[in-house]
Order: sequence, then structure tokens, then C-alpha cells
Amino acid sequence: MNMSNLAKLLNEISLADSPRLEDLEQILNLNRQEELKELFSYADKIRQEFCGAGIFLRGIIEFSNYCCRECFYCGLNKNNHKLTRYRMSKEELLESVAYLAAGNIKTLVLQSGEDEGLDVLWLKEIILSIKSQYDIAITLSLGERDAGDYRLWKEAGADRYLLKIESADEGLYLKTHSGMSFTRRLNCLTNLRSLGYQVGSGCIIGLPGQTLKNIAQDILFFKQNDFDMVGIGPFIAHKETLFAQEQNGRLQLTLKALALTRIVTKNAFLPATTALGSLDKDYRLEGLKCGANVLMPNFTPQPFRKLYEIYPGKRCVDEPVGACNFCMDKMAKSLGRFIDYSRGDALKFKKAVLNV
Ligand code: 5AD
Ligand code: FES
Repeated sequence: MNMSNLAKLLNEISLADSPRLEDLEQILNLNRQEELKELFSYADKIRQEFCGAGIFLRGIIEFSNYCCRECFYCGLNKNNHKLTRYRMSKEELLESVAYLAAGNIKTLVLQSGEDEGLDVLWLKEIILSIKSQYDIAITLSLGERDAGDYRLWKEAGADRYLLKIESADEGLYLKTHSGMSFTRRLNCLTNLRSLGYQVGSGCIIGLPGQTLKNIAQDILFFKQNDFDMVGIGPFIAHKETLFAQEQNGRLQLTLKALALTRIVTKNAFLPATTALGSLDKDYRLEGLKCGANVLMPNFTPQPFRKLYEIYPGKRCVDEPVGACNFCMDKMAKSLGRFIDYSRGDALKFKKAVLNV
């Protein structure tokens, strides 16, 4: 595409309330160096204009790797009997939270597999305890639950919930998640929103069978649902899954999807995901240069961290707790940016409050 047409198209996409699927697909199809440069720098400009230069930190603790699901791509799937399963105790979890808070992190992400053994009240007590001790936002990422569970945790003080759609195309979703319902997943997202959570979603780039149109659908879905956060990472094949023999997602395509998501969502929080840091090398810096403004340091203690093997080669698996903080500061400085140590509440939420 000639460069002035590309600039015009990017402008149209960024201004549209409902961008055209074909336009998004056309951008995802770009491959020439100068085209990619234009796309990435456009996304970077939008990030600067709508979110500023700060990079926000979300410290993650992966407290259980039990999972009742059979997602075709994920190493935690219930059919992986080679994986040693764990559930951290309340004491272990609170000790990790203390580390995280001491590192000046203001957002805690509590993540687990979809753990049927998770005691709803146990987690409620943990949320209450954290909230009574620290001024930090809590994001939960525990999969699909009944609205009653979501409500209980929200009332206890949870602020945000992350539930990736993984693919917004119902056909591809059903082909990669046996036994799951797309409608139920959408309902979970709706319930979370109506309970007042700041809601995050996201997708995987390079899922076997995925087309560029499917990725365009994902991006449109993020726009239509006005998510506060969107996590986009490449598919990485894990040998104990049905997709063991498949190709990994491509770096360039992941970056294109990230850049486009920035352009359409404007002020959503977009992480340079751990998966982006776990390909043949660490590409999170590239992500930060084309729209991302969040990093997710890992605070899961050993021996559990090694056992949360969603995909192989996961970043920071052998780093001591706290090492990520130092490293992320370096990344930010190398870009002429800075780590923003505030809570990083939804920019959309703030705007809504101001408008009232
Ligand atoms: N490759 C890339 N991302 C994956 N996830 C799970 N398995 C894989 C994989 N093999 C992502 C999903 C999930 C998040 C916790 O990790 O998007 O929501
Ligand atoms: Fe974990 Fe660099 S981000 S060591």
C-alpha cells in the first residue's frame, strides 16, 4: 500500500466507532518494513497521547495450577497428568503479597487455572486480609465462575477481573476449547462488568486454524466491549497438549495485532505479555514500542513458579522473586520512558467518573 493511503486508512480506523473488519484485516496483512514502521509508530503515538509515557506494573501470583478445563493449547489442561499440581496456602500467598507490596507494586494479579477445588470463602478472606493491610488494587484471573462468586469477591474488595476471550470467533473458540460454551464466557464478561469490576480480556495470536479475519474479529470485539485491559500474546506450543506439533504464533503478527488494538481502543491497558517475552527471545520491548504500556512481573515463589507451565520457555521462571522489578526499570529507561508506580486504575473508568 502506498504510504499516504496507509496513513489515511490508519486515521480512519482510529476515528471509527466501529472499524470495518476488512480494513483491520488489510492492516494485519501488511508485511513491508516501511508499512510496519508506519503502523507501529502510529500506535506508539496514540499510546503517548492517550496513556502517556508511564509503564504500569501488575505483579502476578499464580497460586494454583489445578484446572478442570481442556483448552487445546494450555499446559495446565486437566489431561496433562505429568504436571505436579499445587495450591499455595494462605500463608504462602500472603507472604508473596508482602514481597510484592514491599517492591512498591500497586496492582496484584491473583491467577490460577480454573480450579474447581478453590474455596470461594478462602479467597474472600485473603482479599479482605490484603485490602486491610495494603493500598493495592486486586485483579482476579480465575476463569469462569458463577455470578455469585464474582459478587462475593467484589464485595470483599477485588477491583478488576481478567477473562480472556482467547478467540472472539465462536467457531474457532469451540474448536480450541472442548466442552466449553462461548455464550457462557460472554455472560461471565457481562456479569463482571455489571458487578462493577474493571474488566480485562484478550486473545492468542497464531492459534492453529486462526485466520487474519479471526484476529480482526478479536480486535473489533475489544473495541466493542470497551475493555479496560487487553492481553495479546503469541501461541506457544506445549508438548503435553493437543497442539503439541503446531507452529508457534508469529512475532510480527502479534505486534501488528497489538498495534491495531492500541489504535482502536486508545486508552486500554495493554501488557507486553509474558508470552511475547517467551518466544526465541524476549520481545516485550518491541511490544512496548508499538502500543503496550504494562509489564507483569512474576511474584510466584518457587517451587510453584516452575509448575505454572502454561507454555514452555516462560520468562523469568528461574529468576529470584524481585529480579523482575530491576529488569523492568531498565527496560523502561532504555525507551526513554518510566515505570509508573501508581495503581493504574482504568483510564476509561476515570473518564466515566469525571463525566458524572
Ligand atoms: N500459548 C500462549 N498463550 C497461552 N495461554 C495459555 N496457553 C497458552 C499457550 N500455549 C494464555 C491464555 C490464558 C493465559 C493465562 O495464558 O491466553 O488466558
Ligand atoms: Fe523478570 Fe526481567 S522481567 S527478570
